[in-house]
Amino acid sequence: MQKKKVLVVGFGMMGCRHVQAFLQDKTKYEVHVLELSQENIQTNLVRIGAKLEDCIWYDNLKNVPLLDVAVVATSSAPRFNILKELINKGYRKFLIEKIVFQSGDQFKEILDLVESTNSEVYCNFVNRYFEAYNRIKKDLSQINEGKISMTVHGGEFGLGCNAIHYIDIFQYISDSNKISNISAIVDVLEEPNRRGSIYKEFTGTMQFTNEALDNILLVAEPKYVGGVTINIQKGENTYLLNENSQEFVSVIKGKVRRENFQIIPTSMLSNVIIEDIFNNNCQLTKLKDTEKSHLELFKIFNEKLFAKNSSDTICPIT
Ligand SMILES: NC(=O)c1ccc[n+]([C@@H]2O[C@H](COP(=O)([O-])OP(=O)(O)OC[C@H]3O[C@@H](n4cnc5c(N)ncnc54)[C@H](O)[C@@H]3O)[C@@H](O)[C@H]2O)c1
Repeated sequence: MQKKKVLVVGFGMMGCRHVQAFLQDKTKYEVHVLELSQENIQTNLVRIGAKLEDCIWYDNLKNVPLLDVAVVATSSAPRFNILKELINKGYRKFLIEKIVFQSGDQFKEILDLVESTNSEVYCNFVNRYFEAYNRIKKDLSQINEGKISMTVHGGEFGLGCNAIHYIDIFQYISDSNKISNISAIVDVLEEPNRRGSIYKEFTGTMQFTNEALDNILLVAEPKYVGGVTINIQKGENTYLLNENSQEFVSVIKGKVRRENFQIIPTSMLSNVIIEDIFNNNCQLTKLKDTEKSHLELFKIFNEKLFAKNSSDTICPIT
């Protein structure tokens, strides 16, 4: 069997976990990595227990050859130019991290390029691969009456970088990508962002709905120290998922059940996702299906930062 040649751009906290997933089976994958920081290469090789010679390295995008698929795991700011350059090089299959891009204009330009080149771009909203959410989606699709009501509650879980994960799983469960913001109150976190001083992080409360009037409420309370819990209700069904304990309680027609809520780490998932991309059965969100929800978030955060309710100003979240 011919090895798949995978390019991973960015060998940071996330990129190294993607690489770790591909290194699980060296007979299947040849792993190429583009990373600009020598320090990050050293630190993250140790983090994943790998050696320099396990991968083929580049420090300049110009020198990267055309390979079978690219994973773009930098933070958000460089992603737009990297995607553009890789598509121009001939790349057609992508797995990309969120926050995907930083403005509506960037989305539009890349979506046009994706369409004209027939490229496939999947966004790494990993919740779609977790069994618990798939069970809930299936259960709720069989209930005709009522609206889905989802609440995500936690402390400083990062509305800037993580709200999109929960909005995406709400889209998945409710089968709609037409999300609009109803109301939001957000505050900027003053602490420096580990991913770079250009990025901002937020706490606060936001509510969104879709055309079927299902709704999602996100609450990130700065003073709350517990982990994130996710409550999903429709009709007589209630589900409560706890990310910290990885427990999952369901109440269906008055009967309570307790199960495991297994969160699969990237180091064990990205290889599965890449296989699914090649087999045309990837469950992840396609780029065009996350555009609207990104734009809604850009408007909320740009309003707070720049007093401009606009998705065309660069929104500094990652
Ligand atoms: N899908 C998920 O579940 C999930 C989880 C965590 C983080 N993320 C996202 O992944 C992204 C990366 O997060 P992270 O924690 O790994 O950040 P990080 O800062 O640790 O890593 C980013 C890496 O990209 C490198 N880089 C920057 N510009 C580059 C360029 N032009 N070419 C090559 N390399 C470049 C940096 O040197 C750094 O090593 C963020 O957008 C974050 O939101 C997603």
